Amino acid sequence: MNYPFKMYWGSASADFQYEGGFNEGKRGLITHDIVTDGSYTTPRRLTYRLPDGTLGSVAYRESFPEGAVGCIHDHVYYPSHNAVDFYHHYKEDIKLLAEMGLSMMRFGICWTRIYPTGEEKTPNEEGLQFYEDVIDECLKYNIEPMITICHDELPLYLANKYDGWSNRIMIDLYEKLCNALFERFKGKVKYWLTFNELNVLQGFSHLGTRNSDAQTTWQAIHHLFIASARAKILAKKIMPKAMLGAMYATSPSYPKTCHPDDQLAWMKQRRRLFYFSDVMLRGYYPSFARSFWDEYKVTIRMEENDEEILKEGTLDFYSFSCYRSTTIGKDDKLGIIALPFGENPYLKSTPWGWPIDPVSIRYVLNEVYDRYQKPIFIVENGLGEVDKPDENNFVNDTYRINYLNDHFLEIKKAVEIDRVPVLGYTMWGGIDLVSLSTGEMKKRYGWVYVDMDDKGNGSKKRYPKASFYWMKEFIKSNGNILKENNQGE
Ligand code: BG6
Repeated sequence: MNYPFKMYWGSASADFQYEGGFNEGKRGLITHDIVTDGSYTTPRRLTYRLPDGTLGSVAYRESFPEGAVGCIHDHVYYPSHNAVDFYHHYKEDIKLLAEMGLSMMRFGICWTRIYPTGEEKTPNEEGLQFYEDVIDECLKYNIEPMITICHDELPLYLANKYDGWSNRIMIDLYEKLCNALFERFKGKVKYWLTFNELNVLQGFSHLGTRNSDAQTTWQAIHHLFIASARAKILAKKIMPKAMLGAMYATSPSYPKTCHPDDQLAWMKQRRRLFYFSDVMLRGYYPSFARSFWDEYKVTIRMEENDEEILKEGTLDFYSFSCYRSTTIGKDDKLGIIALPFGENPYLKSTPWGWPIDPVSIRYVLNEVYDRYQKPIFIVENGLGEVDKPDENNFVNDTYRINYLNDHFLEIKKAVEIDRVPVLGYTMWGGIDLVSLSTGEMKKRYGWVYVDMDDKGNGSKKRYPKASFYWMKEFIKSNGNILKENNQGE
């Protein structure tokens, strides 16, 4: 792309939504391997076993009963097990991304491919080799790999044994994972994300904690902060040129009305997000953190040198997901980690109720740069829609083209008019993958259609959609195909 709209353009994914191959290459189970499918109206569930052998399940993000251990049940469909099988399709998928002219691929490492339980002394060579093959395949096409070290998951063994991130031992185990990755991929991978969407981490699948109460959650998050900072310190020793960030769910909220109390509610909600990035980019807890801890009666246990570690391990860039915006008012209740879903009469929504708001991405880019003055990666954005292929499996997704056109225009304004240094953009799920929130396949984001249904049936063959050809043109024309006032054409 020509300056100043010069940045990486790519695709993003998470291992448990994309990769599959759950019992190949000596991979161990991760927490997402016990999460069932669901839908917009039926929450996904996590399956467990009680000490007396009774089997049960809880809704996604609820607490486990006392003594329960996460486990797989027979005859239940778990979307992470095969996902869309990137494990066996990676060459084909990367070739398709290259055909569009993309220059970046963000993907998540499956922790248990590297350490099947999390506690082994030496990493699993088959796992390292698989990711090295993926990286080499990217480099062959001049596609820069960006690695998410931990995307909302952990080894099931560690979750069951230690109650996940509530236990400080996780910091050492995570650092061991980082060490194996940095040593193996130094010189090949420059961009790393320590964690994905820390600010929506909740419950067993993400944190490995049986309880989702405030004390457990905020303490676990403190451990994640230390783990991220230690990863950054380690990375600088092993790969001095590497750049590390973490990803935050940053879709903006707007005050519901101009009532001053709605404004205050909005400020409080926004601080729920900045609590995370302030610690990780500035290196210390913001003063308002104390008011959260008081509100939720939380006491954070810190070790003597934690504050120094946070200071030393600040991240190099901010990265975020932004799919939608929301509204917040004085009467809305914030959960422990809130991402409200307020309606906005000015915006249309997707079938999953996510308001479509291209301006939100320009807003967020400015908001974040004003706060941190560090470069920014947009690492997730995109439209989850129901695609209807014709008899040749071609999808004419003009709605997705419109969505991308309008969002790219706003990014361009943030870069060219507002002078925000944006390093890159990776669209979520460039090759269709399984939805995180609902576990469905029918909520598709990709430029490439994957023949698979909600229960995993289908050939898993890949078919470029109309948006694939549009994206190719977008890259080739240095963005000159973008149209103002395009929505609805
Ligand atoms: C982000 C996650 O929250 O949103 C992804 O990092 C997720 O893992 C994406 O897939 C879109 O959400 P969903 O629920 O539509 O898949």
